[in-house]
Amino acid sequence: VIEHSSAANRIAIIGAGHVGATTAYALMLRALFQEIVLIDSNEGLASAEAADLRDANALARPARVWAGTYADASAARIAVLTAGAASHGAESRLSLAVRSAAIVAKCVDQLADAGFAGIILVAANPVDLMSLVACRRAGLPAAQVIGTGTLLDTSRLRQELAARLCVAPASIDAMVLGEHGDSEVVAFSTSRISGLDLADFAFAQGGLNPAEIAADVRDAAYEIIAGKGYTSFGIATAIVRICEAIVRDEHAVLPVSAFLTGQFGIDGLYLSLPCVLGRSGIERVLLPQLSDEEIVALQASATAVRNAVSTMDTALNGPEAR
Ligand SMILES: NC(=O)c1ccc[n+]([C@@H]2O[C@H](COP(=O)([O-])OP(=O)(O)OC[C@H]3O[C@@H](n4cnc5c(N)ncnc54)[C@H](O)[C@@H]3O)[C@@H](O)[C@H]2O)c1
Repeated sequence: VIEHSSAANRIAIIGAGHVGATTAYALMLRALFQEIVLIDSNEGLASAEAADLRDANALARPARVWAGTYADASAARIAVLTAGAASHGAESRLSLAVRSAAIVAKCVDQLADAGFAGIILVAANPVDLMSLVACRRAGLPAAQVIGTGTLLDTSRLRQELAARLCVAPASIDAMVLGEHGDSEVVAFSTSRISGLDLADFAFAQGGLNPAEIAADVRDAAYEIIAGKGYTSFGIATAIVRICEAIVRDEHAVLPVSAFLTGQFGIDGLYLSLPCVLGRSGIERVLLPQLSDEEIVALQASATAVRNAVSTMDTALNGPEAR
């Protein structure tokens, strides 16, 4: 039996499904944490994934990985929330959101009851809504409740641009902002490669079609899900990048879903803007110099999320409880 020290560098992953298990594996390869605890209502699944991960220990940089409890999670620096409702074919987005909200609320309540005081990183979809649900219940400063937001979409955007422009994705400074979903906004006006704006850079390649790129980025997940039933590698890598920025206190700027307090006139919602991430979570929310059209699109994205929150709240509590 392994003794787990509460002082160790520990992460908890709640939900050991496709996203949770892939995240645990990616974290293990990156050797960011000494201890990884998996929690799932399906205990057999969590135990099996933990055992499978432990099999890699002798050939990788070893981590203690086990299927545990919320008491184990209480000492973790970060709790990643990937527990969500699986989609049932024709089920509406709203009904999925309501079922996921009930799961997220239950998990966060259990974390809070166990005395968890670290950072909650929410990946469960719809991620901007689930981050708000988590923040309302966690009893933690909003800076400690972060949604993965549009970091994944941003990674897809940079990959799409890289393929079209023959430049490494890491050399492209470009972001997707707003909702992680259909109303997301590609901030083309602020995108740069070595200080050149994209239109200038792309001139030699015959130009770019921003609308086509935005649609490709927005619809990428649908195509992957059509082929394999879920997505996992992209989101797991985005989760690892956020964890790394926090654990290493990098003050890295990443587009993630943060509780907004008036930025671009948006208040009381989770939505993605570039954020400075460090040891204490979200240190600052930055205001990029967007074009007028992008600001309008960002505010429309906020309206879409606000409407979804209010419909979800009505379904969860009834209209009188809002
Ligand atoms: N934010 C993003 O960019 C992004 C990308 C991909 C997937 N996701 C989301 O991540 C979530 C997980 O996706 P997945 O493919 O891993 O799904 P999955 O069904 O494989 O895994 C979900 C896991 O949650 C567990 N679970 C359910 N209720 C629980 C509870 N109350 N406590 C603990 N565990 C519980 C289930 O047993 C299951 O193992 C979904 O909401 C999905 O939409 C988000």
